[in-house]
Amino acid sequence: MRTCISLSTCQRSFYRWIWNLFWVSFLLFSGGDVVLVVFAFDIRPATSSSDVQAARLNLLRQAMNPLSIKQEHMLVAHNEKDEMIGFGQIRPLDETHAELASLFVQENYRRQGVGGMLVERLLEKHRQESKTSKKQKVCLLTLQPTVPFYEAHGFRLATKSEREALPKAFLLEFMAGSVLSAVLQNNIVCMIKYTEDSG
Ligand SMILES: CC(C)(COP(=O)(O)OP(=O)(O)OC[C@H]1O[C@@H](n2cnc3c(N)ncnc32)[C@H](O)[C@@H]1OP(=O)(O)O)[C@@H](O)C(=O)NCCC(=O)NCCS
Repeated sequence: MRTCISLSTCQRSFYRWIWNLFWVSFLLFSGGDVVLVVFAFDIRPATSSSDVQAARLNLLRQAMNPLSIKQEHMLVAHNEKDEMIGFGQIRPLDETHAELASLFVQENYRRQGVGGMLVERLLEKHRQESKTSKKQKVCLLTLQPTVPFYEAHGFRLATKSEREALPKAFLLEFMAGSVLSAVLQNNIVCMIKYTEDSG
């Protein structure tokens, strides 16, 4: 049997290296016919408007809102050839709320840690840039199937009272999304994460 194992590496990703080490050990001790595919990726700030244009095109193809993405909030995941393989943003909504949005990973790079690394770096960037010492809440809208992905990064479903305390513009987005998702028969959910105090 031919097994194809894809290893991804990202600078500063300790757990990913442990995971890769496990698979390399497995390869060394397995006598099977195994193909090893290794790719490296890293994450950088969006550096030009062409990053934003490329992101918007991908979001459109994925039927996601292409208009809200802004260069100053955006991080880009890229491969060794500096090709964009994913991106995302956290944009401030008001003094204490921000939205994690526009998260996307190219289909052939999914489930290899790229999306998770983007989330962690976006949260780190948001913490560093928060100008207030008040506790920050990061919220997001997503479809039910991706809930476990966000739970793995400390988000949970927002309660009714937490939802009601969110900025009005975000609530409107949620309500509009709920109407659309009722028509399309998928379930849109609102998730939240309280980040540590900054400063
Ligand atoms: C959601 C998304 C960003 C995840 O990126 P990723 O690089 O695949 O994520 P990671 O590799 O870091 O995490 C993978 C883990 O998250 C969970 N996960 C990710 N996508 C999932 C999905 N569609 N359904 C269920 N679980 C999922 C799984 O636990 C998975 O681990 P596993 O492969 O061991 O089962 C990517 O699937 C994507 O771009 N989807 C389309 C756009 C989208 O839905 N964006 C989010 C809405 S805002």
